[in-house]
This record gives sequence, C-alpha cells and structure tokens, in this order.
Amino acid sequence: MKYPKLFEPVTMRGVTFANRIQRTSMVSGLATEDGQVTEDLKRRYQREAKGGVGAIVVEAAVIIPSKSPYNLRISSDDYVPGLVDLVKAIREANKETRIGVQIMQHLKLSRSGWRQRVEDFKTEELSKIVEDHVAAAKRALTAGFDFIELHMAHAYVLSSFLSRVNKRTDGYGGSLQNRMKLPVEVYLAVRRLVGEDFPLGVRINGEDFHVSGNTLAQSSKIGVKFAELGADYISVSAGSRFEDALTPPEGSPPDPMSGYSGHRMSPWFWWPDGVHVYLAEGVRDAVRAAGFATPIITAGKIREPQHAEKILEQEKADIIGLCRALLADPDWPVKAKEGREKDLVRCVACNWCLEADSRYEKVCCARWPEGMLNSPEPFSPSMARPGQIKKEYN
Ligand SMILES: Cc1cc2nc3c(=O)[nH]c(=O)nc-3n(C[C@H](O)[C@H](O)[C@H](O)COP(=O)(O)O)c2cc1C
Repeated sequence: MKYPKLFEPVTMRGVTFANRIQRTSMVSGLATEDGQVTEDLKRRYQREAKGGVGAIVVEAAVIIPSKSPYNLRISSDDYVPGLVDLVKAIREANKETRIGVQIMQHLKLSRSGWRQRVEDFKTEELSKIVEDHVAAAKRALTAGFDFIELHMAHAYVLSSFLSRVNKRTDGYGGSLQNRMKLPVEVYLAVRRLVGEDFPLGVRINGEDFHVSGNTLAQSSKIGVKFAELGADYISVSAGSRFEDALTPPEGSPPDPMSGYSGHRMSPWFWWPDGVHVYLAEGVRDAVRAAGFATPIITAGKIREPQHAEKILEQEKADIIGLCRALLADPDWPVKAKEGREKDLVRCVACNWCLEADSRYEKVCCARWPEGMLNSPEPFSPSMARPGQIKKEYN
C-alpha cells in the first residue's frame, strides 16, 4: 500500500470511517428552489461515494426558514423524507462511505446592503438559536445520517459569535470566553440530543483573514475547548467573512467571498497547495498539548495523494479534507489507493465551482465535459477540459 496513513481507518464513537479522506461540505445549488432534495442532488453524492471517499459531509443545510433559493434545508420536518432518500441513495452507491450533514444558521442579508450582525440578536433570542440547532439535529438523526457537523466557520451565526468582531455586552461577546458561550451551548444541547454514541464534529475557522477577526491564537483555544467537550473532530477551515467584503453593486447584498477573507476559503490557483495546513497543525498542537486525541481535519487545495500522505505522516492533521479535488475527480480516493496518480483529473483551483452562484448556475466543475452535472464515469485526463484559469490573475 503506497499511502498507508491515508487509507488507515479511523473510528469515532464506534462508527468506523474506512479511510482518512473526508469530502468537506460543498453547497451544490442542486436542491429545489425551496430547499428540498432532488434527483440531481442524490446523483452528485452517489457519484462521489462511488469513488471510495471515507466520509461525505453533505452541504450546509439551513436550519431556519430562508429566502435564499436552491440551498438545502433542514428547517422543518417537511424536509425529512427527502433527506431520508438522500442518505439511502448515498448508501446504495457505497455502503462503506459514512454520511454526515453540516447544519448551519446564516445571518440575514438584504439587497439594500443591510446584513444582520451578532449584536442584533436580543439575549432572549439566543435560546432559539440553540433550539433550532437541536431541532435540525433531530431531523438529521431521523434521516439516518451517520454523523453531524456543526458549522462554526465562515460567514455564519456561530462563527460570528466566535469572532473578535463580536462586541456583545451581555456575556455572549467581548472576551473569547464569552464569545464561545453560545457555540458551546449549541454543542452541548446537540450532544445531549444525539447521545454519547453518535459522532458530532465542529468546523471552525483557523483564521478569519481580516483585521478584526480571529487568528490561530484564538482558534487554537477554541479547538481545545471543543476537544475538552468531546467533539469527535475539529475541521479547520478559513476565511469567507463579510468584514472585508468589497462594496457590492447597487441592489446586491454584500458577498463574503469578494474580499481577501473570502478568497482564502477555497484558495485560488495563485496560492500554493496546502496553504491552510499550518492552521490545522496549530490547532492540533494545542489540542494535543492539552491532552486530547481529537482528530483534526485540514482542507485547502490539497490535490496530490503524496502530499496528503505526508501531511498525515508529519502529524500536521489526522484527516484530509477534499472538496474541489473530489468534485473534479470523485475517483481520487480509489485512484490513489490503486497507485493510478497519472489518471487523476486534478482540480486547477479556478473556482468556476465557487462562482456558480454569481452565474445563477448549479455548482459544477470546469474540467468536466461541457454541460455535465457530474463527472463522467470513468473520467480521465484525456477527457478533461483545462478549467477556467484567468491568465491575467497569475
Ligand atoms: C462551491 C463551494 C461550496 C462550498 N460550500 C461549503 C459549505 O457549505 N460549508 C463549508 O463548511 N464549506 C464550504 N466550502 C468550502 C470547502 O468545504 C473547502 O473547505 C474549501 O473549498 C477548501 O478545500 P478544497 O481546496 O479541497 O476545495 C465550499 C467550497 C466551494 C468551492
């Protein structure tokens, strides 16, 4: 076996993941306008499961009523039958792949440029945020997911509570201790619901990448806190904050992906491979120093199996997150396992997928043959298009 670390199973609370590759959460735009599961959505995840990935985190499912179209929702029991079908479909494609869902509460936005801030929530409204996470987690359990991930990264409610931008004065903002209070309450309430035998992970930002945001100095302490509380993994992402978003065009809401912070979440081709690994390593070192063995996940432009293996070998992370690399080539895991690196269709980090939303399109990969909603099966470099690299950005 060429990549023994990458294909070493890992067990969390009795649930075994066949390898160390996790497909991190990726909004697909494949849900119906009001957030229900579709056949296209099922096919997307089935295709990825078939490629041998150890775990799939199904895209951020919205836990409160939302006006944002085509985003998967878990905000009422009406969404449960669709989610049951989704889990069944993924399991049919590969019974070994463990299936999780990321649950997320967003901050509201309006075309006038207004955006909700953590200071806008009244203290008495905070318990509703906890309850909504618990209700969503309950639906995820009913749907049959193997694990749940709490979204505490990027531009959303819980990451905004964690961030240094949170200036609330009611004990839920200001100091890091206070800023962690609501995310901790959410974690503990969801843990109470799912029990001690069910994997519950958290995704945090290793760094927010704007002047008023968190850095590794805060995120490593946040990591230690969730390790202490028994989180089953800590997935370390970065960026995608509103604070340094560019001024949007008249009549458009602010876009957290537009500024430097936004550009860091899914690093573009002008960043080196593995540009966020040091963040996972920093969180991991702090968690290990505090005496916890919690698996740490890194993601961010990891494209080569050899690179992934080295990250694990050097103990910089315990699980490799692949998002765009797996969209480009869902057979990445099986090709790596069989030593067929030359057959990999590599993500070129052009972010055609990330920008689908601004083109009012479904998320797809610019390397697939034109018009496809999934990677061909089988797929090889000779069939692939070059991607959408904008030369002027180099
Ligand atoms: C189209 C798209 C949608 C994404 N949606 C989510 C999401 O719903 N939740 C999340 O935590 N991260 C999301 N991400 C970030 C990825 O999970 C991942 O952290 C990032 O792309 C870096 O990994 P990669 O280089 O392997 O793509 C998204 C990324 C892309 C490109």
